[in-house]
Amino acid sequence: MAVGSEQVELTEAQIAVHWKEEEYYPPSAKFIAQANGADPSRLERFAEENFPECFREYADLLTWDRYWHTTLDTGNAPFWKWWVGGKLNASYNCVDRHLASSRNKAAFIWVPEPEDEETRVITYQELYATVNEFAAFLRDGCGLKAGDRVTFHLPMVPELPVAMLACARLGVIHSQVFGGFSGQACGERIVDSDSHILITMDAYCRNGELIDHKQKADEAVEHAQKNGAKVEKVLVWRRYAGKYSSPTPMVEGRDFFVDELLVEYRGARVAPESMPAEAPLFLMYTSGTTARPKGCQHSTGGYLSYVAGTSKYYLDIHPEDTYWCLADIGWITGHSYIVYGPLALGTTSVMYEGVPTYPDAGRPWRIAERLGVNIFHTAPTTIRMLRKAGPDEPKKYDYNFKLMVTVGEPIEPEVWRWYHREVGKGEAAIVDTWWQTENGGFLGSTLPALHPMKPGSCGPGVLGIYPVIYDEDGKEVEAGSGKAGNICIRNPWPGIFETIWGQPERYVETYYAKYCKDRGSKDWRDWPYFAADGALQAADGYFRILGRVDDVINVAGHRLGTKELESAALTVEEIAEAAAVPVIDEMRGKAVEMYVALKPGYTASSQIEAGVTGAIETIIGKIARPKNVWIVQDMPKTRSGKIMRRVVAGISNFTDPGDTSTLANPEVVEAIRRHVQSEKAARGDIPRPLSEQELEEIRVFGQAE
Ligand code: WTA
Repeated sequence: MAVGSEQVELTEAQIAVHWKEEEYYPPSAKFIAQANGADPSRLERFAEENFPECFREYADLLTWDRYWHTTLDTGNAPFWKWWVGGKLNASYNCVDRHLASSRNKAAFIWVPEPEDEETRVITYQELYATVNEFAAFLRDGCGLKAGDRVTFHLPMVPELPVAMLACARLGVIHSQVFGGFSGQACGERIVDSDSHILITMDAYCRNGELIDHKQKADEAVEHAQKNGAKVEKVLVWRRYAGKYSSPTPMVEGRDFFVDELLVEYRGARVAPESMPAEAPLFLMYTSGTTARPKGCQHSTGGYLSYVAGTSKYYLDIHPEDTYWCLADIGWITGHSYIVYGPLALGTTSVMYEGVPTYPDAGRPWRIAERLGVNIFHTAPTTIRMLRKAGPDEPKKYDYNFKLMVTVGEPIEPEVWRWYHREVGKGEAAIVDTWWQTENGGFLGSTLPALHPMKPGSCGPGVLGIYPVIYDEDGKEVEAGSGKAGNICIRNPWPGIFETIWGQPERYVETYYAKYCKDRGSKDWRDWPYFAADGALQAADGYFRILGRVDDVINVAGHRLGTKELESAALTVEEIAEAAAVPVIDEMRGKAVEMYVALKPGYTASSQIEAGVTGAIETIIGKIARPKNVWIVQDMPKTRSGKIMRRVVAGISNFTDPGDTSTLANPEVVEAIRRHVQSEKAARGDIPRPLSEQELEEIRVFGQAE
């Protein structure tokens, strides 16, 4: 570990005490001996002086129909183009090219939630057959062609990757909406992406229940229709073959059972469409500062090369591994690291339908034991949940992970240590991977065979990523200074999204305007990428991510926009104003609390509170359900009338609400504080004293407002 002069060492030690962690954990010799990324010269090859050519190593993991002529085109900065002139097909790269060597190897092993249902093994050959048949139907039965958009609202079933790969085969852009989102949220994304086909499923199993999912399709279509988009066909896969498991009726002429339609396409083959490297592969919607979600547009060549490369070196995926990522494919982690990355490398990827603690907290370890999983990938929320519900479960099962991943939120060093000691049995290497929907793949992580792990820190920038922390004025914050700032990436990389679908100005404004040195420049050095995360860098170069500095609340690893939550609350008749804030939550990392003020003439009631919760569930989804709804007389506001969220965030978390002298109505703060905190005290909901890191996480929230 390169810790510099004595003075630096002292500062670092002080910071370590401050953050209550100071240990490094080296990877085991056994891990290093078999690792893909054990060659230290790769670090040099990816050093800045070799940028952008260094990424050729990733592109060469793919099979190209035509090689590219330009590695990185910055001519229309910051709309980066990678591998220009190159042509390829993502479905071919993930399926066809593995047939010769691995036809009968499992591509996916799907584990249904009910434990008495059979695990389904889908070989590369079977995947090839179904992807082709479904692609043939999408082309001939739906008239879809390259560049068209299709929306999916699918749960965690193998039909989801099949649908993705079928679209990719045709060059059709898929847009999967997380299955837990409401029908309205899905409808909104149908409108935004202008798609006319919705692919869904009748029902799925979650936490012991068979959930009616088809109903959401009806709501989505209706919402889309009201907003000017006509869905022509709703394609319904059936959770149980030949049996319709939803009470919601099928709509004649609009809704079709996919299994019935596919009979006609048995044995069909579709030549993979040779797509330009920069052709969009998919859209993935995420939350931002305004209520309109952002459709992050990911490319075919750049994206696929980046997820293949990072899967190889950071997840250490070898073709013979059995890899299990517990994320939902409805999020970017699932797209990159359940489907595209692992399949590009020809490995076996496990998919699980349900809740990790169903029927008990031993379930994941039983699955790992039975299937011989050796790489395990999940989020801190799940780790916290499994630790609480079954701290001693892992040792009852005979499995061995060589590598484990944590992603999506900061992980508390305590929780990290349990993961390492109990789940990893003290042997697994851990990568704490920091990145975002917009990024396609990892930005910050240790290289597992080369860097020691440090609990709570993601590590340095990954290969070919050069991060920097800037303060509000664009001045660099030094490593080891103990100061937090805005983490940015100084360079483009192949996995970066291409634009926000239909909102190119927003793309430039949100991610590049803040630290752009010259808006006319075509030199990438003038366009640092603003990640909207607060972070600090230790003297060893490792980054500690604090969380969002914009109007996004990260609940259990799900990004929720404060504006989306507030707009949902404002649909309730009585509500005049609303503010959403994060509170530290033992399980989910953060939870949402809503502050609302009523229109004149209304009085506070529990019905109104329930109305706000109900509206949020209907418009966004149950994952966004607020922990509390506080009805207040008046919101703390600046003189220009802006609601100061940080003030109420401080009250909700029993922390310092910060300077209130600039408020137009400072007197309301004390009244809100008394009301909220005494109510919380009465419910026994006073948080334990927060760690320095948690205090910092609350302080950075909304800082960029
Ligand atoms: C947070 C998920 C700390 C961060 C891949 C980021 C993390 C947001 C980590 C993106 C990590 C992600 N440590 N925080 N390892 N990984 N985050 O778009 O605030 O769903 O901006 O992408 O999650 O969430 P998204």
